[in-house]
Amino acid sequence: MGESIHTVTTLPTARQASCPFDPPAELLDARRHGPISRFTHPGGKPGWLITGYDLVRSVLADSRFSSRKELLNVGDFEVPPAPPGEFLLMDEPQHGRYRKPLVGKFTVRRMRLLAERIERITADCLDAMEKAGPSADLVSAFAKPIPTIVICELLGVPYEDRGSFQEQIDTFMGGETSEEGLIAAYTATQQYLAELVAAKRANPTDDVLSELTDSDLTDEELRGISLILLAAGFDTTANMLSLGTFALLQNPAQLAALRAEPSLADRAVEELLRYLTVAKSFMRTALVDVEVGGQTIEAGTTVVLSYNTANRDPERFADPHVLDLSRQDGGHLAFGHGIHQCLGQQLARVEMRVAIPALINRFPTLRLAVPAAEVGLRPETADIYGLKSLPVTWDV
Ligand code: HEM
Repeated sequence: MGESIHTVTTLPTARQASCPFDPPAELLDARRHGPISRFTHPGGKPGWLITGYDLVRSVLADSRFSSRKELLNVGDFEVPPAPPGEFLLMDEPQHGRYRKPLVGKFTVRRMRLLAERIERITADCLDAMEKAGPSADLVSAFAKPIPTIVICELLGVPYEDRGSFQEQIDTFMGGETSEEGLIAAYTATQQYLAELVAAKRANPTDDVLSELTDSDLTDEELRGISLILLAAGFDTTANMLSLGTFALLQNPAQLAALRAEPSLADRAVEELLRYLTVAKSFMRTALVDVEVGGQTIEAGTTVVLSYNTANRDPERFADPHVLDLSRQDGGHLAFGHGIHQCLGQQLARVEMRVAIPALINRFPTLRLAVPAAEVGLRPETADIYGLKSLPVTWDV
């Protein structure tokens, strides 16, 4: 078995320009050879690449695999542990200590209030686009402002700070900044969050961060939690909105079906999440020797879990490379699975559910303003896949 195992040299850095929605060809090729491949991390350490749906899901549910940052074994360098509060990169019991108090903050009441706000925010963005039109960059006019405002309201970031805040987040999530630029943006964000936590302690308002100040969490922990919420909640949703719109424009029959049948919207959101899987891969490290798909993953080895090829696995989804908004087979892994499954998934769904139909109904003639090949794709090196820009136009 070991002899015939497929080997992937390292992670691809680009997609084919002709298929901007499909995972890189090397990853699809790896999946075709089998659900698990030998692999060398870009940092030089040997690891495993898991591309099949069932294996990705089983590793995510297996406590013998760790999310701890300091265990990452990808190159000849030490990785520091996640700072206090950044629970995405922690295991139990630390992870649960941070996640548990948060789960109760994403209440139905708050989601309902946010849904009303999202409708308003979306309508404001669409009004501004219409006024400035008949063309726009959909990334800056629509896809970024909506999740930014939502996450700022959730954290209680004052209105006047939002512009600079968005720029900092953009810089450290965009995948194209120099090392120094990244550190500067990260430091500025940390500093801002420290001030925000202090302000909420002094003057609590009606938001998640203020509520969390009424717990045993330290300022440093609250800053870490805020950073995770922000990093996880803003960039992912923004890219789902822009890339999702691009995918619909490139699939006019699906777009027409969604316009004609509003009740398709919930299913459409799930299908776009599956098809695009912008949070494309995450890593886990084996705590002990574990057998996965007939291979032994040795203790201390870091595996890459490819959520996007898992969501395109032909053994799990019929015609996986087809965007079919009426698809019935749910269970995608776009929000992960297991203890780290996305905390903000209901919120993300509300944002997409409200914003995408509002956009396509406001502009019935919405179309690309440039050839599809000229749409600004993010490099594959960005943690979250998506668009740098999406020039669109419409008839007035
Ligand atoms: C479409 C948008 C989104 C996508 C595709 C997405 C995707 C994901 C994925 C795949 C994970 C699991 C990571 C892993 O397996 O290690 C995750 C975790 C997380 N997400 Fe999201 N997310 C989205 C929106 C949001 C929003 C709006 C929020 C919050 C406001 C949020 C907060 C979080 C947090 C806090 C975690 C860490 C959970 C934990 O470690 O227990 N996400 N997300």
